[in-house]
Amino acid sequence: MAITFRNETDKALELDEFYRLMDNNLAENSSLQISYHAELLYRLFLNRNLVKQFLLSGLTDEKNFQKDNLYTPDSFIIGEVKPAYYLRLNIWQPESEFDQRSGKSNVYTIPHNHDFSFLTVGYFGAGYQSDVWEIESSNTDLAIGSKVNLVFLERFQLAPGKVVYFRAGKDLHLQYPPEHLSLSLNIMYPPTEKLQIKVDLDSKQIIEHVGRPTSMRREFVRRQIERLHEEVL
Ligand SMILES: [Fe+2]
Repeated sequence: MAITFRNETDKALELDEFYRLMDNNLAENSSLQISYHAELLYRLFLNRNLVKQFLLSGLTDEKNFQKDNLYTPDSFIIGEVKPAYYLRLNIWQPESEFDQRSGKSNVYTIPHNHDFSFLTVGYFGAGYQSDVWEIESSNTDLAIGSKVNLVFLERFQLAPGKVVYFRAGKDLHLQYPPEHLSLSLNIMYPPTEKLQIKVDLDSKQIIEHVGRPTSMRREFVRRQIERLHEEVL
């Protein structure tokens, strides 16, 4: 299931230390590693200057700020896209301030999964709510028009400090806009071979496969290949 982590630490983390600790803990894709990453993400949440510093530094160099970012305007990449992960900041607007250009309409209306795993923490504001289901079908059963077996897991609110892990392919979610402007931080993991789908909840039928790859995802793959070359050849 999508996993919620509880964190007891009160030690805020600076970005450079976050990257150092992350880079030293990428050896295995285990649940232990994910829970360690969840703690690091929580410690970034405790750093209350992080987003302010990031946005202010962007404003001082507007021309280059996020120039390689292919996401919608309310998602920002913080730092470098590394082979094994990167850090993302999301802005979640309330419905009253909803901007069609933001591209968030699908997020709020159509249950979908992702072909990558990610960790998320509520950073600011009350946070969006989300319903989560587990997909009990394998990749081969996911043709458009076919029915998916869904098991409802939970509805949660991404309140400040709440850390949730979404598994690639398995977790289907539908988000509800927050009442007030909210921010979240994600640790994004590389894409997998899982299919990204959108599901009609009434019929439980798959209505769309979500396209890939974008240039940024190709960049991910390219760096993975480079790393393999370094390590294997
Ligand atoms: Fe999503």
